[in-house]
Amino acid sequence: LSLLVLHGPNLNLLGRREPGVYGLLTLDDINTALRSQAERLNAQLEIFQSNHEGTLVDRIQASLDLHQGILINPGAYTHTSVAIRDAISAVALPTVEVHLSNIHQRETFRHHSYIAPVAVGQICGFGADSYRLGLDALVTQLRRQPDKP
Ligand code: DQA
Repeated sequence: LSLLVLHGPNLNLLGRREPGVYGLLTLDDINTALRSQAERLNAQLEIFQSNHEGTLVDRIQASLDLHQGILINPGAYTHTSVAIRDAISAVALPTVEVHLSNIHQRETFRHHSYIAPVAVGQICGFGADSYRLGLDALVTQLRRQPDKP
């Protein structure tokens, strides 16, 4: 099982960025935990972070022939990006959306996600654990549908 993990804008600053909201773990810490979890689950991960919408779209498009599923924290693009949503629809790979913070508890503009309707599901509010729960959910989902490409 090969999966794409995508981190959107400003997530490269985790650990230093609003630690009261996003916690003290760095993106490297999160990625290290995801890699060992993936090893236990017998899955391969390609992990990528970008601050640029088009670059994230490029990566999603490229995943078509490389991966079977996508775990994504689209950051602020969650609330703005039709392009990222369309890319997920285009590749039609099972996608799980994750957020460190509970976006529904925050400013009104964060309550809406363009991504959620094209995702298998959304996990938010558990800090770095959102990623662990998201990866687990994605792998469970994919193994439940072994006939899907
Ligand atoms: C975030 C929530 C978004 O609203 C915000 O723009 C982010 C991080 C989260 O993980 O909680 O950059 O996706």
